[in-house]
Amino acid sequence: MAKIIISGGSGLVGSNLSKKLQINGHEVFWLSRTPAKMQNAAYYWDPEKAEIDLACLDGTSAIIHLAGAGVADHKWTAAYKQTILQSRILGSQLLVRTLANNPHSIKIFIGASAVGIYGNQTPPLCKEEDELGNTFLAQVCKDWEKENAAIKELGIRLCTVRIGIVLSSKGGFLKEIGNLANYGLAAPLGNGKMQTPWIHEDDLANLFIHLLENGNCAGVYNGVAPNCVSNAAITKMIAKALHRPFFLPAVPAFVLKIMMGEMAGMLLANQDIAADKIQASGFTFEFTGAEQAIENLIGKGHQQ
Ligand SMILES: NC(=O)c1ccc[n+]([C@@H]2O[C@H](COP(=O)([O-])OP(=O)(O)OC[C@H]3O[C@@H](n4cnc5c(N)ncnc54)[C@H](OP(=O)(O)O)[C@@H]3O)[C@@H](O)[C@H]2O)c1
Repeated sequence: MAKIIISGGSGLVGSNLSKKLQINGHEVFWLSRTPAKMQNAAYYWDPEKAEIDLACLDGTSAIIHLAGAGVADHKWTAAYKQTILQSRILGSQLLVRTLANNPHSIKIFIGASAVGIYGNQTPPLCKEEDELGNTFLAQVCKDWEKENAAIKELGIRLCTVRIGIVLSSKGGFLKEIGNLANYGLAAPLGNGKMQTPWIHEDDLANLFIHLLENGNCAGVYNGVAPNCVSNAAITKMIAKALHRPFFLPAVPAFVLKIMMGEMAGMLLANQDIAADKIQASGFTFEFTGAEQAIENLIGKGHQQ
């Protein structure tokens, strides 16, 4: 059993991961800006104020760094773009400084990143060593990974997970499209042919645990299921699983660009991402087909 701290553990990815870690016998604590609001055990930190409760290091052997302002929570104004970037970078810098300047027993650090790092148009089955993109999100991920790289200089094992679209019964993409589908408004975006890299929330949690528990794993891993699907196909699968119609014409790319500005690029991205490296490390996905994953999560949502 290990004591693990998760920055941003209160979020979509962190809360499901916390449950799985606890089931596996680990002791989980979150780093949060508002620990008093948390039911789970949490330590205070505030990357913007460069403040952290050093008690979080007592007996801790792993850090999972997920925290950052939501990329789809607001329109990408210049100020919000700065928040998206700084909320991640300042957190990494604070963690690196804290570990460099204080006694600790941290053996592994896992940093979140995103497949957005490859840009909006990837080669087929884009791998971890492929060229990185130049979009705003690509730059955010590159800067974030660069800050986390300083962890290696402290002699700590570093893993990075470039996460795809997380399918969850509690929020995110599936919930948003599901809400539209419930009103009969689910429609493909652009030409609908863009490849969508997705991952079931439980597979993502298990992937983090795999990296944590396998000392041979280090470096960057794509956190996506082996089979990407087109935007039109995944939207149709969600509507079908909810027993809702799917007949609307696609939302044209130019309409999205007028409505959402630069953020539309993220929605229209064509990203065909490979899961080969994590599979070669011995990880087995439970959900390899998007339809099976969606049906499982929609069933789970009905039970909650
Ligand atoms: N969900 C996805 O589909 C997806 C895909 C690719 C990559 N990712 C990345 O994976 C990470 C976790 O995703 P998630 O969906 O769990 O995110 P989330 O639900 O938005 O949660 C992120 C957590 O970060 C903390 N946070 C929010 N704003 C912050 C700020 N300005 N400064 C410092 N901390 C802040 C919050 O914790 P407190 O309020 O407790 O401090 C929040 O619970 C994120 O970095 C995200 O970009 C997610």
